[in-house]
Amino acid sequence: MRSHYSDEITPKLDGREVSLCGWVHEIRDLGGLKFIILRDRGGFIQITAKKGTTNEEIMNKIDKISKESILKIDGLVVRNDKAPRGVEIIPRKIYMISRAKSPLPLDVTQKVRADLDTRLNNRFMDLRKPEIASIFKIRSKVLNVGRNFLIRNGFIEINSPKIIASASEGGTELFPISYFDREAFLAQSPQLYKQMMMATGLDRVFEVTTYFRAEEHDTRRHLNEVTAIDVEIAFIRDENDVINVLEDLIIEIINGASECHNELKILKKEIEIPKKPIKRITYDRVIDILNDNGKMIEWGDDLDTEAEKILGRIMMEEFNSELYFITKYPLEIKPFYTMPDNEKYSRAFDLGYKGVEISSGSQRIHDPELLVERIKKKNLNPENFEFYINAFRYGMPPHGGFGLGIDRVMMQLLDLQIREVVLFPRDRHRLTP
Ligand code: 4AD
Ligand code: MG
Repeated sequence: MRSHYSDEITPKLDGREVSLCGWVHEIRDLGGLKFIILRDRGGFIQITAKKGTTNEEIMNKIDKISKESILKIDGLVVRNDKAPRGVEIIPRKIYMISRAKSPLPLDVTQKVRADLDTRLNNRFMDLRKPEIASIFKIRSKVLNVGRNFLIRNGFIEINSPKIIASASEGGTELFPISYFDREAFLAQSPQLYKQMMMATGLDRVFEVTTYFRAEEHDTRRHLNEVTAIDVEIAFIRDENDVINVLEDLIIEIINGASECHNELKILKKEIEIPKKPIKRITYDRVIDILNDNGKMIEWGDDLDTEAEKILGRIMMEEFNSELYFITKYPLEIKPFYTMPDNEKYSRAFDLGYKGVEISSGSQRIHDPELLVERIKKKNLNPENFEFYINAFRYGMPPHGGFGLGIDRVMMQLLDLQIREVVLFPRDRHRLTP
């Protein structure tokens, strides 16, 4: 329907006939002079109608146009130093493509600011704001860069089931569903399936996936439906081989996001480019640092939100790093599939970014007997995991991997809360839209 997007209209096109389609961002009526600011994916363009030069029919039509309606405008490009971007359109024909009701549920021009709930309830309109659209353009870039990096490094993209029969991360955070006459669950992660792929000879797999977590959290950093990049790698020497892949992946992702110059300018955000190597620090050292800073964490406990925040600040102050790996976690706070380092410690790690965990990973157990022992130790029933354990009995290489939470990456990249970087977030209170 259109010949150009608004950002393609430059003074160079002076004298050209063009067709534009977009939403009516604003209308200004100065009597004999009427302006329509038309908005499309490319930005804004000024349509200028002048009494005398523009025909009467069009002048009258403009009076009846409601904000956020969609117009198709055929017109002439005219260079004008006083117009935004030095150019405007003199309309020859205006077609009403879709009329918007008023009042609007949201003010797209943002003269009236809406709260996040109102915005999420009207997400279709919220995304008409260039800043909000920018968040999702950056998100698309992040996922693309991540996927390309993995493909380039020999990973094979897989898709595993999201309807599953048993917990993959242990614990109670499962959404039960009815699967014909049986009970089933929504997948907490592709963990068991990506591990089973290690017994196939594919060696390096990844999945861009959804996690479903029935966590009761109601925070700025938790959702019940999460997007993640899950990775699993065979024939590793230890967890450091996995950490090295995650290090390169996250640096590539942050670099990629920093190249979204237009979007970052619209959002008025800057992204700090990370440097290699990313700081690595043991769990024990983290506990010492926190305790020294007045945040008491018992050895063997997970870091709470406050501890994570304090750690993020200290890592910045002392090591000038927004990113950091926490290594050698206590075995008991990590899932059953985690490889023990010894009786006390595991070969598990987390990746922190400005005070928030964005990834967890580990070397995994590849010996089926040890696996059964660990499942029992976690008070889970090995019978429920037969299909999984069986894949370990006929040749399973040493392996490890991680899950990188994309919503968390996005929120930390742009210093927003998690609901702002997800189109239609699912949390304790939200099931629609
Ligand atoms: O730490 P998690 O639970 O680890 C796993 O799922 C393992 N299977 C990963 C592995 O390969 N060993 O989840 C991984 C990441 C977290 O670090 C976080 O970024 C994100 O997924 N995540 C959440 N993000 C938002 N809300 C939630 N409720 C999240 N749960 C996990
Ligand atoms: Mg974790």
